[in-house]
This record gives sequence, C-alpha cells and structure tokens, in this order.
Amino acid sequence: MRRFTTLCSSLLALLQLLLVLHLVAQVAADLITALTDQEIEELALLSKPERLEPDGEFLAPFLVKRVPGTEGNRQVQKFILEQGKKLGWFIETDSFTQDTPMGSIDFTNIILTKHPQAPARLVLAAHFDSKYFAPGPADFIGATDSAVPCALLFDLAFSLDHYLDQFTDPYTTVQLIFFDGEEAFVGADPNDFIWGSKHLAAYWERPTLFPATPSAVPYKTPLEHIDLMVLLDLIGAPAPIFNDYFANTSDYFHALAGLESRLIKLFLVSRHKSYFKTDRQFVGGIIDDHVPFVQRNIPVLHLIPHPFPKVWHTTKDDADALDHLVIHDFSILMRVFVASYLKAHPTPAPSISKMSPRLR
Ligand SMILES: *[C@@H]1O[C@H](CO)[C@@H](O)[C@H](O)[C@H]1NC(C)=O
Ligand SMILES: [Zn+2]
Repeated sequence: MRRFTTLCSSLLALLQLLLVLHLVAQVAADLITALTDQEIEELALLSKPERLEPDGEFLAPFLVKRVPGTEGNRQVQKFILEQGKKLGWFIETDSFTQDTPMGSIDFTNIILTKHPQAPARLVLAAHFDSKYFAPGPADFIGATDSAVPCALLFDLAFSLDHYLDQFTDPYTTVQLIFFDGEEAFVGADPNDFIWGSKHLAAYWERPTLFPATPSAVPYKTPLEHIDLMVLLDLIGAPAPIFNDYFANTSDYFHALAGLESRLIKLFLVSRHKSYFKTDRQFVGGIIDDHVPFVQRNIPVLHLIPHPFPKVWHTTKDDADALDHLVIHDFSILMRVFVASYLKAHPTPAPSISKMSPRLR
C-alpha cells in the first residue's frame, strides 16, 4: 500500500512536471508568433540608430565616469530623470546611504514605469554606475558595462512609447530600472557589490501604499508586481554569446532566439548567426543585479554574454570597443520582444476606446 501511494504520488508529480513544461513551451511559442511579419517590420522601421552612436542622444550621456557618490554619477541620474520626464512615465527614486570600503556613499536607483496602475510589470534593467579604479592614465568609462544597456533601455522606451499608449491590454506594463552601485569598489569583501539592487529588492518586499502599488491590488508589494525581469549587462562588443542561465526562464530565452530567427529571415538584423546559445543550459553562476531578485523568487532573464567582452574591466571598455551592428540588432530584438510580450500590435486595435481612461 505504501509503495502504491508512493507510486501514485510520483506519477502525479511527473504529470505536474509535464504540464508545467508544456505551459512553458507554450509561452515561448505564443511569444514568437504574437506579431505578424508586417508588424515586426513596422517595429524595425522605428529604429533611429544614430541615437545609439557614441555621440548619440541616448549613449553619449552615459559614456562618462559615473562612480557612485561622485558628480559624474549625479549628472547621469539627472539625465535619466530628464528622459523619464520627457517620456511622461511615472518616476520613482530609491536613495540611500551605505558604509562601503570607500566610506559612506550615497546611492540612487531610478525606476520609470509606463502605466503605474497596471498590476503586472515586465521589468527591463541595467546598472548606470561605472566601476571605481584608482586614478591612472585613462579613465574607466564602461561602454559595455553598462552604458550601452542603459542607452538601449531608453531606445526601447522612446521607440515603443506611442504603441504602449494605444496598447489594449491594461494588465501588463513596462518598467525600467536603472541600478546604482552594481560594481564593487574594492572587491575583496563579498558584500562589496550590487549595492543598489540589494537595497531595492529588500525595499520592494514591503507593501508601498502610494503610488507604486496599483489601487486595484493594494496589498501587494512592488516585488509581487514583477512578471519577469530582463537584466541587460556587458552588451555592445562584437560577437556576443548569450546563454540560457535559468531553467525557469528558459522559455523566454528560447522566445528571444525564436524572434531573432524571424528577424534574420526578414533581413532586419545584420547577421545570420544567432547570438543565443540554445542547445544547452549554462552551468555556473554570475553575480549581478539579478541576484537579490532571484533570491526572492522573481523570474529573471539575464542578458549578459559569456564569455565577457575582452575589454571587460579595463580602460579599453570605451566607445572604440563597440560594434554598432550588434547594438542595432539588439535594439530591434528588444523592441520586438517587448511588443510581443505585451501583445502590443503596431496597428492600433479598434477596442482602444473600451479601455478605462485611467489606464490609457
Ligand atoms: C529559478 O531558478 C533559480 C536558480 O535555480 C532559483 O534560485 C529561483 O528561485 C527560481 N525562481 C523561481 C521563480 O522559481
Ligand atoms: Zn562591471
């Protein structure tokens, strides 16, 4: 009898697993086919590649030294806030002071949300600080780490904003997180890194009454509103290889690869070879801003190449290290991924007038 019960419960567990796997595969398939070829082409046409050039309006402001607690960092914060205002998105800041190996340092994470009342959020995140190095002949600028990822977030927001206005599903929205203090100051202390994300993840465990929490679901914490977090890091160098880091978001990874292959077929990206390694799961861990969120069971898609760019944490990680075709490909792919995720069709749907005015 006992053995029979064990057998039954094992079978049940197996069935549950198969069901989950099936649902996961369905998510990827639905995402890949959410938009028509014509809609994907329309989205690709929204590109303004000059904005992502080293002297372009989204990238240039990030290509400066921006160590936490310094004037350069504050200038970048100012730029992020200005762009948030221009977009008209909801702006939140999470400022705090912490003792670090460099003394007491002020940090500020910045969060921009398209429709703060929407209960589910697709989060796109990157860190805007640059790593501290002792003064030397050249400054560390961190073009791939993570100036380009930050510029890509603005490229995404500005190019899709109009569609998100007309978007008919009031349930899910886009939220951008710009993390401060990702980098270690010294690195000898295992706690000396991801200062900003550690703080925000802990802060968002508590319910906030106004205004981060939608009125419809007042008892949820901001963390509970996150559907999926996509973290971009070390992007912009030639020939990146992205790996499938987490089994529980593998479907989204495969969806990205599937959308990329549609873009390749439509000749909308620069190359025919995929940037995504889909044949096996990555083994090993990378410490980055996603860690405090993964620890709190937030599903994370980590878009960081491995191996890291050759210029990683050297003063050569500057504008000369960038491959503009890679950046351009990535900007189109992210746009198509987000539009597919939100099922935001470029052609306005007639049912738009049925939406509650609050959510428009
Ligand atoms: C996803 O997998 C990671 C790594 O195995 C785990 O730490 C995390 O808790 C999982 N998240 C969810 C939402 O299940
Ligand atoms: Zn770094």
